[in-house]
Amino acid sequence: MRIESIKLKNFKSFRDASMEGIPGFCVVVGANGAGKTTLFDVFGFLQDCLTYNVRQALQKRGGFREVISRGCSAQDNIEIQLQFRMVLSGVNRLVTYLVRIGWEQGGPVVRREILRYKRAARGSPYHFLDFRDGSGHAIKNEDDFDKPETKLQREL
Ligand SMILES: Nc1ncnc2c1ncn2[C@@H]1O[C@H](COP(=O)(O)OP(=O)(O)OP(=O)(O)O)[C@@H](O)[C@H]1O
Ligand SMILES: [Mg+2]
Repeated sequence: MRIESIKLKNFKSFRDASMEGIPGFCVVVGANGAGKTTLFDVFGFLQDCLTYNVRQALQKRGGFREVISRGCSAQDNIEIQLQFRMVLSGVNRLVTYLVRIGWEQGGPVVRREILRYKRAARGSPYHFLDFRDGSGHAIKNEDDFDKPETKLQREL
């Protein structure tokens, strides 16, 4: 898997930042406090979200208030979007993963989570995972690329 782009909104010191066209070998340089550790913690944060859960990933970093950029309001969300290339069914595809986390009634809420990539050279990207405020669908037989859309098995 090769990460090609990172977009961050309200993640610690990154209020609205993006890195695009990230090369295979990438060196991150910056003054103290520029955000190097924060940038790499994006991966640690996502790993903690998936290994444990979003609440624990936030707690480990001091809670939602510490992770969301200072100056944000209660309605703002933390947003992480990664684009990476990986071989799926023999084709090197550009995959987009997006997660948007907010705060509601004393706890974190996943406002949106999407995993999408193109099934064919033509057409718009297909959402293999699409959650909104705690409900949505995931495709179970995503390897069956040749099947028409109606044959894809959705799990709610
Ligand atoms: N929630 C937040 N909102 C805004 N800024 C934040 C938030 N949390 C941390 N910061 C700021 O982000 C900066 C920390 O950046 P980071 O530790 O990633 O820098 P660094 O480039 O790794 O520095 P060093 O070279 O010292 O290791 C600090 O200035 C800190 O005050
Ligand atoms: Mg550092």
